[in-house]
Amino acid sequence: MSSAAEVRGVALLGATGSIGETARRVLARHADRFRVVALTANGSRDALAAAAARLAPAMVGLVSPNGTPLPPGWRGGPECLVEAATHPDAAIVLNAVVGAAGLDATLAALRAGKRVALANKESLVMGGALVQRAAREGGGAVVPVDSEHSALLQCVSGRIATEGEGLLPLTGVRRVVITASGGPFRTWSSERIRGAQLADALAHPTWSMGRKITVDSASLANKALEVIEAHVLFGVPYDRIEVVVHPQSIVHSMVEFDDGSVLAQLGVPSMELPILYSLTYPDRLEDPGVPRFDPVASSPLTFESVRDAVFPTLGLGIAAGRRGGAAPAVFNAANEAAVARFLDGSLDFPGIPGAIGRALERLADHPANDLPALLAADAAARAHVKEYR
Ligand SMILES: NC(=O)c1ccc[n+]([C@@H]2O[C@H](COP(=O)([O-])OP(=O)(O)OC[C@H]3O[C@@H](n4cnc5c(N)ncnc54)[C@H](OP(=O)(O)O)[C@@H]3O)[C@@H](O)[C@H]2O)c1
Repeated sequence: MSSAAEVRGVALLGATGSIGETARRVLARHADRFRVVALTANGSRDALAAAAARLAPAMVGLVSPNGTPLPPGWRGGPECLVEAATHPDAAIVLNAVVGAAGLDATLAALRAGKRVALANKESLVMGGALVQRAAREGGGAVVPVDSEHSALLQCVSGRIATEGEGLLPLTGVRRVVITASGGPFRTWSSERIRGAQLADALAHPTWSMGRKITVDSASLANKALEVIEAHVLFGVPYDRIEVVVHPQSIVHSMVEFDDGSVLAQLGVPSMELPILYSLTYPDRLEDPGVPRFDPVASSPLTFESVRDAVFPTLGLGIAAGRRGGAAPAVFNAANEAAVARFLDGSLDFPGIPGAIGRALERLADHPANDLPALLAADAAARAHVKEYR
């Protein structure tokens, strides 16, 4: 970036979550480059008010005011996400909402020609084809925030084609390898996992994240979402996307090129860098807040195969991705509903793949040609998981 770079407006959706909080720190360090123009949260009113007091955005939106009056000037209700995502002062929309609730805003921002710095992977899993269409029609662009996809993007710089399948179609790539920490149950037996409690699933060994994605990491649903995300983003066929367990979470992903050369992107497990890169891509910006990498302190780096039979959610998700149509949306919604039940104690851990598998059996062929059809598939999957015993 040149030193006289313009200040770009950023709308931050999901500002009170784990990614939202890290993003606010990153943005605060680069106030000479980025100005926060909109902030949203679901129900965390006090945290949102504190962030708004510091950042003074033009727009503040609370999705669920729960019947209580809002401070003067605030917007309320689910519409505020799209309003923030299309705010005229925003060049970049950082979508850090969790779950399918983020899809509308992703589509609206792309149709309005914005850069979407996308943490909300569920948008791509649920509505991959719609997201591609919105980007094409509106001239918007998706830049991933997920550390694995940020790693892939950093490895392939100069290898993005102007045409082809995917939002960022690749040329000259033979295979991508997505790394997984393996989560808290990496070394557990199936029998021990059957008795896993909520506190066990929330004890992630390397990453500190929101509760839903932390449970997704324990079941490997998160890795399934990321495989689908990689397919939609880079247009790489499923049989050329591999998952490998890497317990140290230092190698964030790898790309193998046609000649057999493999590039990897490394760094300590922190979202500071992928968030920063999603804002500055394709440029890089010096940032003292990004933790430095020390190869000796990080040694040794090890890799293992995924134990597919122990973690059936991964296979269910990849099969749903391969199947296409409504199946990825059903997988995503069934997973969200099953995780919500696991979090409230009404479903045990093995019930997560159990409920998802049942929903996919019933609903994978649901119509999926447009947004209303996908939303109907999403709702049917949630209803199905609610009743699952
Ligand atoms: N955390 C990570 O390190 C990480 C890494 C890679 C990717 N991601 C992805 O980033 C996204 C956010 O993850 P997170 O860990 O930051 O989640 P989180 O800590 O649970 O935060 C979620 C944010 O979204 C808001 N939100 C929740 N439900 C909403 C709804 N129905 N409508 C609008 N806003 C809603 C929350 O507001 P309230 O606070 O008001 O509830 C909060 O601001 C997810 O898609 C996740 O997969 C996260």
